Amino acid sequence: MLPLILLLVASGATGDDQSTKFELMQHWDNNFEGKFCFKLATASVGWELDITFNVPVQGIQQWDGDFIHGSNSGCSDKYAMVNKGSKGIHAAGDSVCVRMMGKTCGSGGAPTGTGILKDLSNDHQTLPKIPHVAGAQSTKYNYAEVLMKSILFYEAQRSGKLPASNRIPWRADSALGDKGASGEYLTGGWYDAGDNVKFNFPMAWSTTVLTWGLLMYKDAYVKSGQLDWMYQSIKWPLDYFIKCHTKPNELYVQVGDGGIDHGSWTSPERMTGKRPSFKISASCPGSDIAMETAAAMAAGSIAFKQKGDTAYASTLLTHAKQLFEFGKAYPGKYSDCVSAAAAYYKSQDDEDEFSWGGMWLYKATGDQTYLDFAEKHFVNKTAWGFSWDEKIGGANMLLYIETKKDIYKKTIVGTFQDWFPGGSVTYSPKCLAFRLQWGALRYASNTALLALVAADAGIDPVNNRKWAMSQINYALGDAGRSYVIGFGTNPPRRPHHRAASCPSLPAPCGWDEQQMKVPDPHTLYGAMVGGPGKSDGYVDDRGDYVKNEVACDYNAGFQSAVAGLEHLAIAKELPSTYKDVCP
Ligand SMILES: *[C@@H]1O[C@H](CO)[C@@H](O)[C@H](O)[C@H]1NC(C)=O
Repeated sequence: MLPLILLLVASGATGDDQSTKFELMQHWDNNFEGKFCFKLATASVGWELDITFNVPVQGIQQWDGDFIHGSNSGCSDKYAMVNKGSKGIHAAGDSVCVRMMGKTCGSGGAPTGTGILKDLSNDHQTLPKIPHVAGAQSTKYNYAEVLMKSILFYEAQRSGKLPASNRIPWRADSALGDKGASGEYLTGGWYDAGDNVKFNFPMAWSTTVLTWGLLMYKDAYVKSGQLDWMYQSIKWPLDYFIKCHTKPNELYVQVGDGGIDHGSWTSPERMTGKRPSFKISASCPGSDIAMETAAAMAAGSIAFKQKGDTAYASTLLTHAKQLFEFGKAYPGKYSDCVSAAAAYYKSQDDEDEFSWGGMWLYKATGDQTYLDFAEKHFVNKTAWGFSWDEKIGGANMLLYIETKKDIYKKTIVGTFQDWFPGGSVTYSPKCLAFRLQWGALRYASNTALLALVAADAGIDPVNNRKWAMSQINYALGDAGRSYVIGFGTNPPRRPHHRAASCPSLPAPCGWDEQQMKVPDPHTLYGAMVGGPGKSDGYVDDRGDYVKNEVACDYNAGFQSAVAGLEHLAIAKELPSTYKDVCP
């Protein structure tokens, strides 16, 4: 057996590679025709075929792949090719035959040969096992594992030059040419969703809310072994925001164009389209996005100060203060000026970001003038839904926590009255609070975070915790399936996500991969999809960007709420039952 093992190692074959002999179909003079055939054990989205003939051959014609080694002009005994677009997609059990014609370089057209098929859909990604946190209350779902996976989702969204610590084997450097109008480097940040645009408005809100969860529920990250990964996770967009803040009163707010980007289906590494950048300034104001970016950087400064990284914390705070002043001096909705953002992340109002931004600056500095500003801009309304656009629920929560004033508490209590059974939010039969078909799980998860924070602030703790648990556990499997990719029972396997749907390079990727029936070749661990319809209906369909897209903002409140539940489990304060809050 030993020589055989050595042979396999020498050829670089892995357990998934298949080897087969060239089947000669016919030959005359020095011409030959034949094929390499493989039977696939698992579904495939892309392949590489490495061929070795016993004699040099030339003039190979075939219809299934493109050569990456060897050529049609010279004589060689070694060739390598990857599938042409659409030719790589196969279901498990399919037979794949690559037929070819050619000429031997010497006399006689009867070569023998070996072909090794490498499955480019298998990325060999394996994850560490994350145990339930020792000593914590036992939970139906492993929240520590969800935290680890959600952090991995944000890692998979990274744009720019990836660090050596990158854990996503199917991601590589991308969009290294992202620049401002005067050549400022704007690499980095997160791709927004299943597309490859960098939309800073939801990116900044996601960063603020993830950091809020870290500040509130740090023990959950510590005890699940995720603290360092979490710091790295939020630092990625924060570093990018520093680059985007090119002058005190100038902030880049988007890189990439939705129309160009959505017109093609490809991974970030394969992108070739133009990536224009867009900024706000004194003459093109956007107090909403200036304040939200200030909030993210102020929250980040608190987190990194706690970590002991005082230099970074102070850099972030300097930017946060400048952005706050910029937003305060030049009010306006950014999407009124940056029309490229309007079709995707149009801002409805900027008043909520004034109080939200003011509160984060106050938390980071303790400076009363920020609190006064936030109180002056208090939005006296219940929250329709805490989101990238509407910060009323979060701002009023922070106002209440810092001041304990009843006027703020009233809006919070009113928000939960509206969200709980009997309010204006409808419930699916299996207890999802269904606010909107676009990312229904996201709105429910964001409100779940607010409910956990409200409970900690002493507002109806029993019911608020039960309700938060009912919504998060719905996403994790209570309705009979998981909505978090790579987690739990029957999770989605066909998210509307360009990078995850593309096979590994050098295989091509395009609309054929978007349309294919087989699962995505890569598991986008930790991403929560948009979610079901109002009757719990859901199909795992890549084409359905309403129910099956993922996004940075979808996971933010969700991850922080999961951290909140783990925090309660560690303190042994999770409710033992929670279904009684369902209608
Ligand atoms: C907030 O709105 C409520 C209901 O509309 C009203 O009764 C209350 O006076 C308002 N409070 C403040 C501080 O404006």
